[in-house]
Amino acid sequence: MQQLVYLNGEFIPKDQARISVMDRGFLFGDGVYEVLPAFGGKLFRLKEHVNRLNNSLNSIYITPPYSHTEWEDILTQLVKLQATTADSYIYLQITRGAAAVRDHVIPPQISPTIFAMANPIPTTNAANNARGIGAITRNDFRWERCDIKAITLLANVLLRQEAMEAGTTEAILIRDGQAVEGAASNLFIVRSGVMITPPTSNYLLPGITRDLILELAAVNNIPHKVEPIAAADLTQAEEIWMTSSVREIMPVIHLDGVRVGMGIPGPHWQHINKLYQSFKANVRLS
Ligand code: PDD
Repeated sequence: MQQLVYLNGEFIPKDQARISVMDRGFLFGDGVYEVLPAFGGKLFRLKEHVNRLNNSLNSIYITPPYSHTEWEDILTQLVKLQATTADSYIYLQITRGAAAVRDHVIPPQISPTIFAMANPIPTTNAANNARGIGAITRNDFRWERCDIKAITLLANVLLRQEAMEAGTTEAILIRDGQAVEGAASNLFIVRSGVMITPPTSNYLLPGITRDLILELAAVNNIPHKVEPIAAADLTQAEEIWMTSSVREIMPVIHLDGVRVGMGIPGPHWQHINKLYQSFKANVRLS
């Protein structure tokens, strides 16, 4: 069966989904997106994702098109319509829409293009995390509104490509001597047994996985702090993790070719990952 996607109010086969060449997403990268998993058909942290989506939309002067309930209906249906029962992740994107002419200035009358698709979560993700990943550090040459989940991702694409060409999975981005986040993930380190992640700011995306990890740490009395991480702290870290909705909690076992800690996923990662997996299992059963 052809994969069905959601486009502007309809569920249609992917190869029949069309948008205009005048769409400002295509011409300017003028849009925002979200990525959220569904486990056993249950949308994971939908409220948080929709809140962040609405923040992104408001930041770029697009009126949020749907309520939480409307998103829930659309995305639950989308997941149900997939040919597979595998856990999936939803990619949703809203662009400003198609205008009559190409002009940087935002046209007053324009309706957004709303698109969503669901794809199976690669089964290799869990195995990769169990093994641990490699990362590189790179200068963060993105813009100054990294808190907006913008579709304009050329810098992130180039940085992940560099990571891949270096034989690693992720690039940790350094701005003004501070390690802020990954090219497509948030950053945690463990130092003297304390889990640390940088505070939210315009230089990083407020990750939903990051927030859940902080919640789990608080509930389970795991020592943790939200404070800046200097680039130099990375080399001293006992553990480094990168987090995202699709790849979950990735333990970094080598950074710039040097072993992190013992060079295997550490005990703090084992602990938080177990808590995360049981949180997920409960959502599946809910
Ligand atoms: N990216 N920081 C950046 C720059 C990201 O692109 C992502 C996720 C995160 C983690 O956010 P969350 O925990 O809410 O997934 C942090 C998604 C998965 C992507 O671009 O595909």
